[in-house]
Amino acid sequence: MNRQFISQQITGELIDKLKNDPKDFSSFLQNQNDGIIIYVLEKLGKLENGYSKEPLQNLLNHSNENIRALSIKNLAKIQDINLLPTFIKYASIDESTIVRREAVSAIGRLRNEKAIPALINFLKDKDPKVIMQAIRGLLVFSSNSNVKNELKKLLNHPNELIREVINKEINGVQYQSKSQQKHDEFPEFLKNTVVHGDVQEIIKYVPDESVHLTFTSPPYYNARDYSIYQSYDEYLNFLERVFKQVHRVTKEGRFLVLNTSPIIIPRISRQHASKRYPIPYDIHPLLIKMGWEFIDDIVWVKPEASVKNRNAGFLQHRKPLAYKPNAVT
Ligand SMILES: C[S@@+](CC[C@H](N)C(=O)[O-])C[C@H]1O[C@@H](n2cnc3c(N)ncnc32)[C@H](O)[C@@H]1O
Repeated sequence: MNRQFISQQITGELIDKLKNDPKDFSSFLQNQNDGIIIYVLEKLGKLENGYSKEPLQNLLNHSNENIRALSIKNLAKIQDINLLPTFIKYASIDESTIVRREAVSAIGRLRNEKAIPALINFLKDKDPKVIMQAIRGLLVFSSNSNVKNELKKLLNHPNELIREVINKEINGVQYQSKSQQKHDEFPEFLKNTVVHGDVQEIIKYVPDESVHLTFTSPPYYNARDYSIYQSYDEYLNFLERVFKQVHRVTKEGRFLVLNTSPIIIPRISRQHASKRYPIPYDIHPLLIKMGWEFIDDIVWVKPEASVKNRNAGFLQHRKPLAYKPNAVT
């Protein structure tokens, strides 16, 4: 059943009516399919302290993990410290990671000192997302010296996001701009300027942290006559040098958009194989190492395949291992 169909059947008024009558709500939830229960739980809205817990508690052993997680999410809205043992139980024993995460989040959302020992306990969890929820709950009490000490223990945690959050919260490590300029200012001489030259020379004249966006389509490795390099290593070194400079000139929190794709160097004869170079995948770790943060990839679907008829052999003899799709980017 799709959501549009459900939304026609289960109106806001019906949800409000059910919410205000726990008995009706319980029996309604028992007789509906998973899709409807999820829809209702998502639309339940605010629940005041003192709201009847029973209809939601009845769902905590439901076979569907999303229903269990949403029940906990809604129970957390009631802000009832008596629910702490329930949240601890499901955070500890549920086999689903989304339920455990939601339960630890619910413990944190109680914002009650009584929850501190349980949250500290979940800092040792195997799942980094559970730990993150426990950290979030504990940060409310970060002035408490015991909490602070426990959080400090995570400074060398194997997970990089946990280390980053703890470092920021405990050591107050935050980016400090070296530039005197305001974020929306940049040197006048860069305004509407077109430069013809080798990027490696030209970029030296661009001051640190003066650029908001670089959008570039660098040469593809030996695919055209303007891009001839002795080796793939030399090519990657060139890109690495340039993008380090681009990082230097970019303002904090601003962007580099890199248009690139794998390329094929065709075989020299039928006795040899062509070679495919995965440029985006090879440049990516270099970019991360020099300080760029990955935001997203955008797939450019061009109307024409960039390398056509790569599956001609397959079309003749239909041997599956010979299948090569035509690349569209
Ligand atoms: C894939 S093309 C991108 C073309 C560009 N999108 C355009 O529409 O003009 C790569 C371009 O980089 C230029 N190029 C190659 N090496 C360069 C360098 N060291 N400095 C500046 N430009 C360079 C090439 O001349 C080519 O125009």
